[in-house]
Amino acid sequence: MSEFFNHVIEGLSKKDKKLNPKWFYDYEGSKIFEQITKLDEYYITRTEIDILKKNQDEISKCIGEHATIIEPGAGAGEKIKILIKSLKKPELYVPSDISKTYIRDIATKLEKALPNIKIEPWVFDFQSNEKIPSHIYQKKNLTTFFPGSTIGNFEPLDAINFLKKVKNQFYSDKIIIGVDLIKEKKILERAYNDALGVTSKFNKNILKRMNKELNADLNLDFFKHDAIFNKKKSRIEMRLISQKKQHINIGQTSFLFQDQEIIHTENSYKYSLDMFKNLAKDAGWSVAKIWVDKNKLFSVQFLIHQ
Ligand SMILES: C[S@@+](CC[C@H](N)C(=O)[O-])C[C@H]1O[C@@H](n2cnc3c(N)ncnc32)[C@H](O)[C@@H]1O
Repeated sequence: MSEFFNHVIEGLSKKDKKLNPKWFYDYEGSKIFEQITKLDEYYITRTEIDILKKNQDEISKCIGEHATIIEPGAGAGEKIKILIKSLKKPELYVPSDISKTYIRDIATKLEKALPNIKIEPWVFDFQSNEKIPSHIYQKKNLTTFFPGSTIGNFEPLDAINFLKKVKNQFYSDKIIIGVDLIKEKKILERAYNDALGVTSKFNKNILKRMNKELNADLNLDFFKHDAIFNKKKSRIEMRLISQKKQHINIGQTSFLFQDQEIIHTENSYKYSLDMFKNLAKDAGWSVAKIWVDKNKLFSVQFLIHQ
């Protein structure tokens, strides 16, 4: 049985049903995420891009000359274009993501946009223990670029493990990371419940994939997208809520959903600067520099290995 099948069966068998968010991102899910980044409500992308643009020289100085940049969960690779322009003699860019077709497509587009740097896509699941290929880790000045608040999708303990992985599996001792900050509930919930329903489409893509790849019989209209800010846990919780009592089948396995029963699909943790500093410290990193926007919505941080 596939890893996707095993994860789905395990997640839906729990008392509080949940799914692993990495299954949002096949080619189609990655394209829907690109649309999310352009939404009015989704302050994250435009704020981070502004921070990167305003501070690109200083950020590039932190990275230094002859850099090899590894970007796990690179998505559309839009943000690296800003940095590459101000970097001195960058050597190699390694965009990495979970969908093979998507990351290859992105790498081809980036090769045209960034003719002065070698680009080598790497299909990599950052929940795995795989090490970066040896010809890459033998390079000098390996820097990890991790924008987009992807770190917020990890439970805090998993975030610590991921940051350890950057040192132990990517052999990188510098990170430029995008960390979303705690803010008003209204702004947060709006960002994940957009008026056009793009985030809803993204959330339901996991159900669509179950139908397509796992021979499931879910009716997407019988589930409703919803995202709430859990203040106590400092995280946005994205959910799919069953709109009626229903049985669903995944191949030979059947699950009962009660009316209004929730599948928890993704978290997006929000940090204060102090909370993130402590988390980074627990993983062996110190925060050397922080850039924020004037409304303190988002931060880009430079971490160095202690
Ligand atoms: C929040 S998006 C950020 C995308 C992009 N870095 C940005 O700044 O807009 C998360 C990214 O992580 C990728 N991703 C999610 N789970 C992953 C996994 N387990 N392994 C590798 N990439 C993953 C997704 O495909 C997506 O591109």
